[in-house]
Amino acid sequence: MTLRSVVKGTGSALPKRSVSNAELAAQVDTSDEWIVERTGIRNRYIADDSETTATLAADAARKALDAAGIAAADIDLIVLATATPDQTFPATATKVQAMLGIDDCIAFDVAAVCTGFLYALSVADSMLRSGNAKRAIVIGAETFSRILDWEDRTTCVLFGDGAGAIVLQAEEGEAGILSTKLHADGRHNGLLYVDGGPSTTGTVGKLRMKGREVFRHAVVNLADVLGEVLAATGLTAADVDWVVPHQANARILDATARKLGLPPEKVIVTVDRHANTSAASVPLAFDVAVRDGRIKRGDLLVLEAMGGGFTWGAAAIRY
Ligand code: UT7
Repeated sequence: MTLRSVVKGTGSALPKRSVSNAELAAQVDTSDEWIVERTGIRNRYIADDSETTATLAADAARKALDAAGIAAADIDLIVLATATPDQTFPATATKVQAMLGIDDCIAFDVAAVCTGFLYALSVADSMLRSGNAKRAIVIGAETFSRILDWEDRTTCVLFGDGAGAIVLQAEEGEAGILSTKLHADGRHNGLLYVDGGPSTTGTVGKLRMKGREVFRHAVVNLADVLGEVLAATGLTAADVDWVVPHQANARILDATARKLGLPPEKVIVTVDRHANTSAASVPLAFDVAVRDGRIKRGDLLVLEAMGGGFTWGAAAIRY
């Protein structure tokens, strides 16, 4: 028997306010038609002043704990992926820990932008399998609306806020995380970045992206890393029940699935409802598909993401 990190429950949270393309088009020089045709996005959620990365993360974590039937007090590890922390420090994971009423556990943030959840999942999986922890909450949570340049139509229409969480438990058996693969190539820092930071400008900064170039790299990198993660498990694309991808652009999802020979109906798509929520998008999509009954126990899932850095990664999970 092999010790694996088993997904015991999932949860997600969205801000109260939803914003349609038509609402955005009233403020920015864009149109519903352009956004839908180029990205598949129809709607996004935007946090108000009372909602932060930590509050969204804690809501998602509570729902994941409920679904898992596990008490917060039994969690010994929180790994939170975000590029939009509540503060530069302390780690947002420790704020979530306090909100959940956990007095002592390991808690830290991981920064890999849109790939953050895959990085967090892989780190948590290693810590569970090595015996450093037994039960973990892995969270992706973001408030990208706070770092958007609302005068830049090439970026502000693409992103939204939200959080997703999963509870993992170390168990002997066949189910659980089968393999994870992570990559980074810092030569591409300048294609997707924030033009501020505590050690440079002393400001928070705004998101900047060369979208077309990111798109080109995304399709190649995502197909490659999905191939790698499947090869590591001895499985093929034909064995996959569901792809749970990072939700940046419906055209990237289609192109990646085509490259791997995966039928589009096996790809979980939520980009139309949530837009790109960066590190939150994979666990948000995961939770949506568990709760609507598509993802079932025993299914083979592949998760994938690509983002600023560049970073990219994938995971294969027997749910
Ligand atoms: O999550 C991290 C990873 N991020 C991504 O994966 C994003 C990857 N990139 C993309 O999804 C796409 O490249 C975008 C959606 C960002 C852009 O789509 P595109 O088909 O690559 O469009 P483009 O940048 O080539 O722009 C086409 C035209 C331009 O006008 P001209 O120069 O052809 O006259 C833009 O100015 O569309 C114009 N445009 C817009 N028009 C209306 C750009 N943004 C908008 C807009 N509304 N919001």
